[in-house]
Amino acid sequence: MSVLFVCLGNICRSPLAEAALRAEAEKAGIALELDSAGTGDWHIGSPPDRRAQAVALGHGIDISSYRGRQVSPEDFRRFDHIFALDAENLKNLRRIRPADGKADLRLLMDLVPGREGSDVTDPYFGEDAGFDRTWGDVTRAGRAIVAMLRK
Ligand code: 4NP
Repeated sequence: MSVLFVCLGNICRSPLAEAALRAEAEKAGIALELDSAGTGDWHIGSPPDRRAQAVALGHGIDISSYRGRQVSPEDFRRFDHIFALDAENLKNLRRIRPADGKADLRLLMDLVPGREGSDVTDPYFGEDAGFDRTWGDVTRAGRAIVAMLRK
């Protein structure tokens, strides 16, 4: 099973979502192929934002080796599940989805009871506390994905 997370820059939210699911899947003993990407192209080849790295490391996960990349139509053929971190990115993903793309495309927080339809807010331009909020959101989503894949 393969899962791709997509946000705008691929340096804040989607790397944290990837890290959180990696941790939850490991705990659950589920083998997953995981990656993250951005709809934008500004941070191709860049490591995650230092604040995202700090939050992940605070939870015991080193994401310093992650590198930004831009999502491509090919990702819809490669991955089983693609999760958009917010509605704007979901809209842009629907636009580039190829006719033969097999990936199940969904808004990430739709999996979390009580949070359906909501965005994982972009913490990039805000204060450090925003990254803790992001971590909480993507951890809840990671647990929900593990529960979904177990069924
Ligand atoms: P992300 O956050 O989509 O969670 O990675 C952002 C990072 C960078 C930019 C926007 C959002 N930016 O405009 O450079």
